[in-house]
Amino acid sequence: MIDWHCHLLPGIDDGASSLDETLAMAALLAEVGYTTVCCTPHRLRGMYDTDPELMRNAVAEATEALKRERVELELWPGMEYCLDEFFADDFGPDPITLGETKRVLVETPAHADPQLLRENIFYLVRHGYTPIFAHPERHAFLAPPGSDSGSMFNRVKSWAQSGSAESTQSINDTLLAELQVMGCEFQGNLGSVGGYYGSLVKKQEKRFREAGLYSCYGSDGHDLGGLQSFLTQALNEVRLDHSGLL
Ligand SMILES: [Fe+2]
Repeated sequence: MIDWHCHLLPGIDDGASSLDETLAMAALLAEVGYTTVCCTPHRLRGMYDTDPELMRNAVAEATEALKRERVELELWPGMEYCLDEFFADDFGPDPITLGETKRVLVETPAHADPQLLRENIFYLVRHGYTPIFAHPERHAFLAPPGSDSGSMFNRVKSWAQSGSAESTQSINDTLLAELQVMGCEFQGNLGSVGGYYGSLVKKQEKRFREAGLYSCYGSDGHDLGGLQSFLTQALNEVRLDHSGLL
């Protein structure tokens, strides 16, 4: 089982704060059944200017520490790229995929311009990569239009509360379907399944899951306490779905 999205590396972004925490998170991930974890620190210009070489070195050091502590877990290099206006410039010189795959983990700013999102996704597809769009369920602006045309919050709320009958059709009506047709895949957060981000995101994740939007899941773990609070319950719920996504 692969964790496709995790902030396991210490001291690089807002993930694990120390090597001890990295080891504790890794031990928990191994205990619940993971064999591989993609180490995906943020790459966001001006905030997390994560250097690819620094990330690779951190993966090598964490791998050594896991061996010393006899934690059986394979670590793959990765990055969580922000799809902002600087993305192509930042990605191009030293592209980081998830391990040896052609998958590239991306997230979108909270108030993304849909056209910029399309262009960045198309950039990746055009260069032979598969964009893996992280946790779309956490973005209010990606929710299908609801009956309420007011705030984004209300849009999501009315949509989440409207039942599941039109879920597939709703997704077809959104930007998500357009991106999917372009070749983008979507990664759900186990924290969303477990209610870590609140009930609206939890409902949104469930509807996306039922509509078959996701191709994989990630813990998006940032610290030990967070992982402990949702991991086991969320894995059980996704497993019960028999979706083959884990
Ligand atoms: Fe993340």
